[in-house]
Amino acid sequence: MTGYSDKITVIAGNSNPALAAAISRELKIPLASANSRRFPDGEFDIKVDDDLRGTDCFVIQPTCPPVNENWIELLLLLDCLRRSSAGRITAVMPYFGYARKDRKDEGRVPISAKVVANTLVHSGADRVLALDLHAAQIQGFFDIPVDHLYAKPVLLAAVRALQVDQPVVVSPDVGGIKMARSYAKALDGADLAIVDKRRISGSQIAVEHVIGDVEGRNVIIVDDMISTGGSMAEAAGIVRRHGARRVVVAVTHAVLCGPAVERLDAAPIDRILVTDSIPLGEKRPQNVEVVSVAPLLARAIRNIHRNESVSSLFD
Ligand code: R5P
Repeated sequence: MTGYSDKITVIAGNSNPALAAAISRELKIPLASANSRRFPDGEFDIKVDDDLRGTDCFVIQPTCPPVNENWIELLLLLDCLRRSSAGRITAVMPYFGYARKDRKDEGRVPISAKVVANTLVHSGADRVLALDLHAAQIQGFFDIPVDHLYAKPVLLAAVRALQVDQPVVVSPDVGGIKMARSYAKALDGADLAIVDKRRISGSQIAVEHVIGDVEGRNVIIVDDMISTGGSMAEAAGIVRRHGARRVVVAVTHAVLCGPAVERLDAAPIDRILVTDSIPLGEKRPQNVEVVSVAPLLARAIRNIHRNESVSSLFD
């Protein structure tokens, strides 16, 4: 960081240009002119046209699939800005890829989330702005400031608009209890239930029990992400078998890879609420509704730029 002036700019990578444009509209700041072309062999050929010397730069680039492409593009953008004497560089990663590999859970495996953190810092990031990290402790992989936002207020507004009567908030696995509890608390102390999930492989899971009572109740299943859709489809299936009535799903990151769309379409789910942290493709679940986190991210960017509190956005 070379010290920044009151100049601020937003730079879009290619992973979610619609979200970057929405953030720029919220902030009333035009996107910086940046070109991310390709060399004939597929390598990125990046150039930022604007003079960003001394500017407070926010690079919008969720590292969603194609994760390796989006990650490398982000690293190159950071390096480009650092070599252009940007004043301060914040990597805005509404979806932080590789977050699920945050420890050595068996021998001879990498800690991929740590590698991502190291490379971001080495490439020029002075700060990171993330949304619903898969594991909050990833913040500790960085020795630079990490602002961690929650999509909960945005998703809760959409849940409330559905007028779900006396809901039970359901976590699709034990790891999601903290998130489910915070939704339940915000929904006037709604009841809580947990699905007993066992992961068999990257895309296969088994569910055996529901801890808590869902019979005759409307349920809201909350999670940080839907990847292959196995966890959510199985959770919806088991709560319906246990007598749940309306099933609403509220999830921050719609990764939706592999068989996700087919699984979700076949599952007993009435409505799927997701954010635009990741762009949805043409092929999307039939009951999906996208709510935008652009206003939330824009407010966080504005507060960071003004050296004002980010946590106050959640008071
Ligand atoms: C698990 O810890 C996560 O919160 C998600 O439940 C999981 O990553 C979803 O994966 P999938 O959609 O492939 O079951």
